[in-house]
Amino acid sequence: MKSVKSSAAKILSLVLIAVALTANAVTDKQQIAIEERIKPVGQLCLAGDTSCGAAVAVAGGEAQSPEDIYNGTCTACHSTGVSGSPKVGDIAAWVPRLANGIDAVYANAINGLNIMPAKGLCMTCSDDDIKAVVDYMVEQSQ
Ligand code: HEC
Repeated sequence: MKSVKSSAAKILSLVLIAVALTANAVTDKQQIAIEERIKPVGQLCLAGDTSCGAAVAVAGGEAQSPEDIYNGTCTACHSTGVSGSPKVGDIAAWVPRLANGIDAVYANAINGLNIMPAKGLCMTCSDDDIKAVVDYMVEQSQ
């Protein structure tokens, strides 16, 4: 009985040694290959960083619609009319501004106007994106 026990113990320790050896058996080459494979997952692309592809900067990798941009940035001020911003849905607030011509309104939205920050703080927006958002805001106010 005793000998069976001790040979079982011997086998067990051999198995343990074998497991320990396999665990350490990853070569440097394999290690590099593993790191290469997991690398894209760990890479971060911050919004506005064009070095890693502009599409990645937008959540979901898709271009944002004017409505998405409005809801993401502009609504913070323009849904309530904070600091005298023309409120979306209030056409009376927009009429005097539109009287200057839509191009002047586009330019003010792109370049900023007093408290209105340039591009309404949408750093990833192109000028055309901002124009489309202005169109959307005016449409929603009529
Ligand atoms: C921090 C608050 C704030 C945010 C965010 C903001 N706006 Fe404004 N916006 C203002 C204020 C205040 C004015 C009024 C400026 C004035 O007439 O002095 C204004 C004015 C405007 C006007 C009228 C310009 C004109 O010619 O009279 C447009 C168009 C506009 N904003 C578009 C946008 C768009 C598009 C966004 C989002 C991409 C945005 N705003 C985000 C505060 C904001």
